[in-house]
Amino acid sequence: MMKRVLLTRIFPERAAEMLSNAGFAVTQWQEDRPMLKEELIQMTQDHDAILCTLTDTIDKAFMDACPRLEVISQFAVGYDNIDVATATLKGIPVGYTPDVLTEATADVAFGLMINASRNMFFMHKQIIAGQWGYFRPKAHLGMELKNKTLGILGMGRIGTAMARRCRGAYNMSVIYHNRNRNESAEKELNARYVDFDTLLAESDVLSVHCALTRDTRGIFNKASFGKMKHTALFINTARGGVHNETDLIEALERGVIWGAGLDVTNPEPMLPENPLLQMEHVAVLPHIGSATSEARNAMANLAAENIIRFFRNREMHSCVNPECL
Ligand code: DGY
Repeated sequence: MMKRVLLTRIFPERAAEMLSNAGFAVTQWQEDRPMLKEELIQMTQDHDAILCTLTDTIDKAFMDACPRLEVISQFAVGYDNIDVATATLKGIPVGYTPDVLTEATADVAFGLMINASRNMFFMHKQIIAGQWGYFRPKAHLGMELKNKTLGILGMGRIGTAMARRCRGAYNMSVIYHNRNRNESAEKELNARYVDFDTLLAESDVLSVHCALTRDTRGIFNKASFGKMKHTALFINTARGGVHNETDLIEALERGVIWGAGLDVTNPEPMLPENPLLQMEHVAVLPHIGSATSEARNAMANLAAENIIRFFRNREMHSCVNPECL
């Protein structure tokens, strides 16, 4: 019997094409919004696989309610929206899409760093608001990045790509904190492994590239911002849950740290009245790290391929819990 795959969002067309060409019956959710929890459960009932993304909550309740589901294919490198432990207990493999979005996401981290360091988003808003004003020798001063210290939390693929950019463009010294040492980054970038407190204390720019886990949720909070330099710039392109946004706002308002560049917020979408949107040294984007045609098409390829390979040979290109294959 034909296997049925539910596409939970409007993904690049090639995902549906690849799956149809491989003989799957594809159901496409038609609206350009995430499904409500009940909608997701209802739609998944008569499907063998889902191609989903970070806006879908794939928790135990969902999996219990969808006993037919054999495979989950996530269109993202992060998978904190999925209860992988439960999926593993149920023998459901979870695919994901690493590598193909590394450069796109590192570009956004790098862009946010430059933009926030020179107040660019804020100045643009001033122009739109009709407040161009005169050239003012002492106003709106930013910070230079040359020879500064870049701190990376999570020296994986994207963290390394960000560090490469910062070394090449600004000769920044690189320090990092990670679950494990990354010796190839140490060799290539002369990166120095430090404990978390040293990362906080020494970074001029601190860029977050770790996964959102029980250990990293809210790790940037009042206490940790308090250990950073008053001149520091905080960049987060990983997950909004890694920082406590109320504490971040307070740290910026009180000058505990200098600025921030965020592609991820907590919650998403950010409320329009969030004070971060009005701050001079802050640049905010709506989670567009992987939003290039190249990256999103490659993610669609990979996510579809993970489903196809699973049903053909019980293998995947990239699987979070390969013990289920
Ligand atoms: C990811 O892949 O985890 C990004 O946040 C979205 O592409």
